[in-house]
Amino acid sequence: MTAEDLYNKLKNVRIGGNVCQYSLRKCEELVPLINEINRLKKEKDAVILVHSYVSPEIVYGVADFIGDSYKLSKDAVNTKAKTIVFVAVRFMGETAKILNPDKEVLVPARLSGCTLADAITAEDVRNLRKQFPGYTFICYVNTTAEVKAECDVCVTSANVYAIVEKYPSDKIYFLPDKFMGINLKNEMARRGVRKDIQFFKGTCYVHEEYNEEAILKVRLEYPQAKIVSHPECNADVVANSDFVGGTEQMLDYMRKTRSKQFLMLTECGLSARLQSEFPDKELVGSCALCKYMKSNTLEDILRVLKAPKASDRVVIEDAVRIKALKSLEAMFEYAEAQSSRKTACE
Ligand code: 13P
Ligand code: SF4
Repeated sequence: MTAEDLYNKLKNVRIGGNVCQYSLRKCEELVPLINEINRLKKEKDAVILVHSYVSPEIVYGVADFIGDSYKLSKDAVNTKAKTIVFVAVRFMGETAKILNPDKEVLVPARLSGCTLADAITAEDVRNLRKQFPGYTFICYVNTTAEVKAECDVCVTSANVYAIVEKYPSDKIYFLPDKFMGINLKNEMARRGVRKDIQFFKGTCYVHEEYNEEAILKVRLEYPQAKIVSHPECNADVVANSDFVGGTEQMLDYMRKTRSKQFLMLTECGLSARLQSEFPDKELVGSCALCKYMKSNTLEDILRVLKAPKASDRVVIEDAVRIKALKSLEAMFEYAEAQSSRKTACE
């Protein structure tokens, strides 16, 4: 890759102050590192999976696959490479490992957390099961392997509504995201689906920042703008949005709609993808950064490829892995059955 190639992909990105703005000079500095990573990944038979929220120089410099948590978990299943470098947050690397026990999965993120995954433990779920007997436990993918192992079905933001609608149980306990739980309840009511839905109290510290006032301000200033939000936002934000969905679905919506202006209520990485990939579309308003996703750097990707430390490797006990796999397999079964008919958040 040349500095010009990289610059062409990054020159329109204007988010997050100095974090995500690129000159040709900055691209000249980044390219040797990028080329070293791309050389090494071939030598080591590794693929690099990158969530859209990480820094744009990683997305456009070294990614073999880019996407949301659902797409990346499918990419992880389909790859033949010996090693998966998962550039995102720890729980996504764990999902790849649950699905690929024989592959080496490396996570370069310096911060291992995510406020949702950290909100609940496996013991919490075991206690909740005693409190809510007869309920089907549905966990959002933003959970640890241990938590997935205690649940019946896993979902992502791309398929949560469709799976809950279809799942043959009318008593659902959803965890760990409170806002997604409320949105789920509202959406089921809108679809005329009668289910008793209980939910846990976790929140995403990025998405909980967005509020209705910011939307109303943008609507006044940019009446043509489409408001696109993630289901981790609160119910008022969701009610005032033109489209709600997982990050890949948000991109798909922007690709297909004729509108030229968008307010994106999710992590800034997705705004960067809009600016890079849809130069004729304009971003209005501001966005928030996830410190966990942004704790991935090119330097750390090179480091884990060269000489991974024990803490970079994802290791999951077999007993936990086998139980967690069941909840992921249930997700694939229900998600794939519905994907041929309609998208999750329609
Ligand atoms: P997606 O499943 O849409 O990729 O979202 C993951 C996430 O962490 C959202 O905050
Ligand atoms: Fe977790 Fe929120 Fe960051 Fe997504 S944006 S990884 S839910 S803290």
